Amino acid sequence: MEKITNYYIERLLEINKAAGAERPKACVVTYGCQMNARDSEKFAGMLSQMGYEIVKDEHMADLVIFNTCCVRENAENKLYGNLGNLKERKRSNPHFKIVLAGCMMQQDIVLDKIKAAHNHVDIIFGTHNIYRFPELLHSHFETGGMIIDIWEEAKDIVEDLPSQREYPFKAGVNIMYGCDNFCTYCIVPHVRGRERSRKPEDILAEIREMAADGVTEVMLLGQNVNSYDGGITFAQLLRKVHEINGIRRIRFTSSHPKDVTDDVIYALRDLPKVCKQLHLPFQAGSSRILELMNRKHTKEWYLDLVAKIKENVPNIALTTDIMVGFPGETEDDFEDTLDIVRKARFLGAFTFIYSRRHGTPADQMPDQVADVVVKARFNRLVAECNKIQLELNMEKVDGVLEILLESVGKNGMLNGRTDDGSLVHVAGDVALIGQYAKARIIEAKTFYLMGELI
Ligand code: 5AD
Ligand code: SF4
Repeated sequence: MEKITNYYIERLLEINKAAGAERPKACVVTYGCQMNARDSEKFAGMLSQMGYEIVKDEHMADLVIFNTCCVRENAENKLYGNLGNLKERKRSNPHFKIVLAGCMMQQDIVLDKIKAAHNHVDIIFGTHNIYRFPELLHSHFETGGMIIDIWEEAKDIVEDLPSQREYPFKAGVNIMYGCDNFCTYCIVPHVRGRERSRKPEDILAEIREMAADGVTEVMLLGQNVNSYDGGITFAQLLRKVHEINGIRRIRFTSSHPKDVTDDVIYALRDLPKVCKQLHLPFQAGSSRILELMNRKHTKEWYLDLVAKIKENVPNIALTTDIMVGFPGETEDDFEDTLDIVRKARFLGAFTFIYSRRHGTPADQMPDQVADVVVKARFNRLVAECNKIQLELNMEKVDGVLEILLESVGKNGMLNGRTDDGSLVHVAGDVALIGQYAKARIIEAKTFYLMGELI
């Protein structure tokens, strides 16, 4: 399969070279999760090999590819807004290309809407056939018409696609794809398909190559990394990644609480390179709501798991995903959510308002909660999470932490990340980006720390 991809990459390169002296420009716009961000690096890699210069500003580009997300309605609305804005541009410049990819495209109702209201789009494909992008672009250049290629299911896992990484020193690595959990609110299993794990040898070879290329931090990616099953368990995979020379930090996301085995906890405890950070979505506090969500855990079970993790790995930072306004959620149910927040004390929380997703069981459930009620609960939840996050950050003041310097912020300061994932702003030379340094924490804010390099 890689051969077909490479064949069309070569053809496109010839077409682009024949077209003119200037390199055409392409922009990859990403919505959604880190899996999408990683796919976008592959789009950028393929486009760059096809002769495109990758630009950040979509207004400069001759080709824009939108890598879409459908986990909540507002992600979808952003895409429709963008497509509307590009209509005029496409009319005045027919050579300008619009490509749509990613999760949203796996839904029939979305395709129908785009065909009816946005027929200025050139190419549409989904999550299961990204390696065919060069072939589809080639067909489009040959025929000039709209090309749609959506697969219902994934076939083989395609290895070795080119990729252009966003950072030279840290990288995401897919270890598994898809999700089998079917939480009743969630569209992901419907658009990303069944769980498929990559072979350990392929994962390890990719990480070794990254390490040789200067990567020191890897983030193992999957919808549910702990259900990894590539012939070895996730905990065993962590131990093997840990052996790779040159890798200093190992992160992973996302974890379903039901699959956090003792082995995973011991790996977190025993392997120094595994960052002391665990993203552990609990979604809702009430066991009744959790049952309706098909989460396969109760409130008590989750809190016991948190206690066990903290006992074994005392310096662990927990982060989570929380949803408010699931159908049937009462004030008492919501109080259970706040109770978990207070007891588990998360260093970070992604908080969401429940969004009805077509085709999911929750969409058909009675007692959808009124918007005003949901918004009020959401605000209370955010206030509680922020208060705890600030308290945890204050405990770090005067301490010295190791940070990986990652980028320059808008204020000209450098952004660094600690082992537990906290953001630290420090004054420093841009030449330090990509390096590890020690910082003394001088001030704590809700979402970041201020530090000075020592
Ligand atoms: N509405 C709101 N949030 C959702 N999530 C998944 N589906 C929905 C939905 N329908 C959230 C969950 C998940 C995160 C990635 O997105 O909290 O953990
Ligand atoms: Fe969605 Fe649940 Fe799978 Fe996460 S575990 S992707 S919330 S179905």
